[in-house]
Amino acid sequence: MSTTNTPRTPVTVIGLGAMGQALAGAFLEAGHPTTVWNRSRSKGDSLVVRGAVRAETAEEAVRATELTVVCVVDYDASQAILAPLAEAFEGRVLVNLTSDTPERSREAAAWAAEHSIAHLDGAVMVPTPLIGSPEALLFYSGSQEAFDRHEPTLKALGGKAAFVGTDPGLAAIYDLSLLDFFYGSISGLVHAYALATGDGVKAADLAPYLSTIVQILPPIAEYTAANIDASSYPGTQANLGMMAAGVDHILHAARTRGLDVSQLESIKSVADRAVAKGHRDDDWASTYEVLADRDQNPSAA
Ligand SMILES: NC(=O)c1ccc[n+]([C@@H]2O[C@H](COP(=O)([O-])OP(=O)(O)OC[C@H]3O[C@@H](n4cnc5c(N)ncnc54)[C@H](OP(=O)(O)O)[C@@H]3O)[C@@H](O)[C@H]2O)c1
Repeated sequence: MSTTNTPRTPVTVIGLGAMGQALAGAFLEAGHPTTVWNRSRSKGDSLVVRGAVRAETAEEAVRATELTVVCVVDYDASQAILAPLAEAFEGRVLVNLTSDTPERSREAAAWAAEHSIAHLDGAVMVPTPLIGSPEALLFYSGSQEAFDRHEPTLKALGGKAAFVGTDPGLAAIYDLSLLDFFYGSISGLVHAYALATGDGVKAADLAPYLSTIVQILPPIAEYTAANIDASSYPGTQANLGMMAAGVDHILHAARTRGLDVSQLESIKSVADRAVAKGHRDDDWASTYEVLADRDQNPSAA
């Protein structure tokens, strides 16, 4: 519990899975009077021991405070809880930290606007142990007024509370884009271990050297963004033609060792299509012109 005597804004947390429990715990830790509700009651037990008030119904939870944070598995679940509570929410602030698509966030925001509920959509970008720490990143979008008013309270969840715009779908876009990068990366990581172990190298023997690759990523992230935004891809230090040949070497070695090569084939296909479009001497960032060729992509819905 916080040692300061400044009164803290009371808050309600709905959804007490792994993340909801961490969120409610962080509010308690920062001294916010915290009301909790979860479909399965027992998940609130340890929070009640720590000082949370358990509401008997979701409606009681919403009516208990002006600010409610919801964090459940997806928007089907959150709308199942919230749809019958429109009246209880009227004039209050709803912060939905459930992850889903931007489309679902926009639908939920439209529902909230219909019922005069101030709505913030959010996304949690860190695992539960980091919740409440200064380095924890959470995105928010939607009502700027609600964010400005409750930012000090929301900062109890994570010091990096980033409001990314009034379009309620934006927090989800930032979330999914970062996770797009994350899942592509960890899938490549596991594949790298599979390649190494195929020749008797233990994953733990390779691991210490991966930091070299990790450390070159931050500048790559920055200049790739600048190149994409400028639609200019100078390949003076390393060109796509050379890098596509490098992917081919990995692909052949992986195939020879009987590994799954679906991710590598897809990387190679994108690089080859960019080369065919005239980007052989450009930077890898030029593959953007294939990935984001919205009229030509066979996978576009
Ligand atoms: N855990 C993480 O590290 C992490 C990190 C970043 C973001 N997130 C996001 O945080 C959100 C919650 O994740 P979590 O880890 O807390 O998941 P979880 O541990 O699986 O908990 C799921 C929660 O959703 C509730 N729920 C599911 N279906 C429901 C329904 N039909 N009606 C009412 N409640 C329902 C569950 O209630 P019951 O207890 O009654 O089943 C529980 O409270 C997700 O959107 C996830 O993507 C999680």
